[in-house]
Amino acid sequence: MKKLISLLLAAMMILSLAACGGKQESASKYNTVTAGKLTVATSPDFAPYEFYAIDDAGTPQLAGFDVALAGYIANELGLELEMVPIDFDGVLMELQTKSVDLGLAGLSPDPERESIMDFSDIYYMGGQSFVTVKGSEDKFATLADTNKAEYQIGAQTGSIQVDLAQENSPDADIIQLAKVTDIIAELLAGKLDGAYIETAVAESYAVNYPELAIVLDVPYDVEGSAIGVSKGNSELLAAVNAAVKKALEDGSMDKFVAEANEQAAGKIFEGLLDG
Ligand code: ARG
Repeated sequence: MKKLISLLLAAMMILSLAACGGKQESASKYNTVTAGKLTVATSPDFAPYEFYAIDDAGTPQLAGFDVALAGYIANELGLELEMVPIDFDGVLMELQTKSVDLGLAGLSPDPERESIMDFSDIYYMGGQSFVTVKGSEDKFATLADTNKAEYQIGAQTGSIQVDLAQENSPDADIIQLAKVTDIIAELLAGKLDGAYIETAVAESYAVNYPELAIVLDVPYDVEGSAIGVSKGNSELLAAVNAAVKKALEDGSMDKFVAEANEQAAGKIFEGLLDG
């Protein structure tokens, strides 16, 4: 009997060792910043992509469809999700220095960024807008009207909106701010005459801040959002693309967008939390 027990114990030890080996193997299947984890930078000033929602206990929680998609991808890859909230220019920096695996921040796959990161396939289509406040709509009938030396025009630091501002309003004073929520606050305070903002984001903040007026569509060649992937990590890029494809096909992405829009428009949402 004793012998049988020790045999059993030995067998169990071998089995658990094998299980450990298996686990290690799956953790190292992808080369990530921290083994077994998917580290994702995001800039939560960008409802409905990413923002802070206030939960029942009054605590701000990361929310938005980028955050939900990050969770979906981590799950598909068998990795534990770690979100790193940081200003948008920080997202670019973290990717460049390979301090994170992914950047999920409504990133435009701007060809100029291709030297510092790889891009996934497009996971969401959005457009660009010029935004002002109610009462000023008439001043901006065309994009050419935004190009006046007396105007202060906002755009988020590091974003393609800075390029749009320089292209369409080169004579104006272009004010770069770290957070889109800062731009909204400055618009509402009358310190900016207008700003370049992603359309879905402008629409989302306009629900909570009805003084905002989205006046013009701004043409931009690189439409849609992609995931920034740490450069040269082809296994991770392929797995991210497979997960994105699945999320688009199985209806998850539609669900994430609907939930994010609802949450961003709800009373629980505090758009200027980080301001
Ligand atoms: N799509 C723009 C870009 O890639 C703006 C993204 C800003 N994202 C954010 N989470 N604030 O430059």
